[in-house]
Amino acid sequence: MGRLKEKVAIITGGGGGIGRATAIRFAEEGARVIVAEINTDLGEESAQLARDAAGNSGGDAVFIETDVTSHESVKNAVSEALERYGKLDILHNNAGGSTMQDGPVTEAPDDEFWRVIKLDLFGTFVCSKHGIPAIIKSGGGSVINMSSNVALMALPGRDCYTAAKGGVASMTRSMAVEYAPNKIRVNAIAPSVTLSDRVKKLVDESPEIKKISEQHLLGFGMPIHIADMAVYLGSDESVITTGQIMSVDSGVTIY
Ligand SMILES: NC(=O)c1ccc[n+]([C@@H]2O[C@H](COP(=O)([O-])OP(=O)(O)OC[C@H]3O[C@@H](n4cnc5c(N)ncnc54)[C@H](O)[C@@H]3O)[C@@H](O)[C@H]2O)c1
Repeated sequence: MGRLKEKVAIITGGGGGIGRATAIRFAEEGARVIVAEINTDLGEESAQLARDAAGNSGGDAVFIETDVTSHESVKNAVSEALERYGKLDILHNNAGGSTMQDGPVTEAPDDEFWRVIKLDLFGTFVCSKHGIPAIIKSGGGSVINMSSNVALMALPGRDCYTAAKGGVASMTRSMAVEYAPNKIRVNAIAPSVTLSDRVKKLVDESPEIKKISEQHLLGFGMPIHIADMAVYLGSDESVITTGQIMSVDSGVTIY
């Protein structure tokens, strides 16, 4: 307990499976969390759950309606965070995700390519553009991007998502070099199949995804497993960890 005491964190997509678990874990560890989410109901619910989980850790949570693909919306979320909590230490660029519209380049629709590039890659770019200056002013901190195992291995059937998450992984490394002088570390988490509600549905609908369960040496992941990695990356425990793509993947990338 208390691993994130006094820290202020923005978690994008904080209403969803992994983002919600992370908002709850951060608040339990004493962080003051901004749930930056496009879906009002999910965002409010996550903030409430995180406040409940905070207990007497010093943690807190608030929902701010945010579209990570809009400069105006993200600028507003960052200034509301600063107004409420006075600083920003952690930016977790979590919003994103694949859909069943994805496929091989010869089949995937352009719309799906641009959707995932806009949400996962451009969203990370926009939030970093407006979040990093606030972290610099606060004396440094941690950016936690969300990549995927698809960025580290060749998986068929999801070329659009792979391109977006590969971009996130590469940008993570260059950002780490760029902002080290400002005492900002930049890492990404690369989960494999993690059973958020959205992904449970995908697994049910996709025999290919079901099949790869055998390559998950310790079974499919749960949102809490990814949230625990985010706690490490957000805390001072990771003070010299930067530019890394941290696999939380049940061994799937080595098997
Ligand atoms: N679940 C997995 O198996 C898995 C594996 C690898 C990587 N990831 C990555 O982890 C992240 C979270 O995945 P998840 O499974 O929890 O997804 P999820 O769909 O459960 O949650 C994503 C959240 O982002 C929100 N969101 C969507 N568009 C937004 C926007 N424009 N602005 C702000 N918020 C927006 C959604 O409303 C939702 O609440 C994603 O980046 C995903 O690509 C997930």
